[in-house]
Amino acid sequence: MPLIALDSLPEQQPVEVECNLGGDVESLILFRRDGEVQAWMNVCPHAGRRMDYAPGQFLLTRDQQLVCAVHGATFRLDDGACTGGPCRGQTLLAVAVEVRDGEVVLV
Ligand code: FES
Repeated sequence: MPLIALDSLPEQQPVEVECNLGGDVESLILFRRDGEVQAWMNVCPHAGRRMDYAPGQFLLTRDQQLVCAVHGATFRLDDGACTGGPCRGQTLLAVAVEVRDGEVVLV
């Protein structure tokens, strides 16, 4: 299922998309770096809340870590690991995606 055109994804800027996963509409975070795209559920492992402060608007630290807008946990965007805050040591739930014919698709 196409999620977004690769050209619509800026480098090193998290982007929120919604998709149908198992019959439910879910929010995903896409992150493009060096032409590769990773995806995680937009669900914080601390309290299960969305991490954007407004739909699709994410806070980042100066060193490009994602900040959960609810209680401030920080996450590396190369592996989704929480590096600080109430869920330190936990990891965002990864979603398998790939780039096919110029589009980011669920695998
Ligand atoms: S819900 Fe994200 S840090 Fe609490």
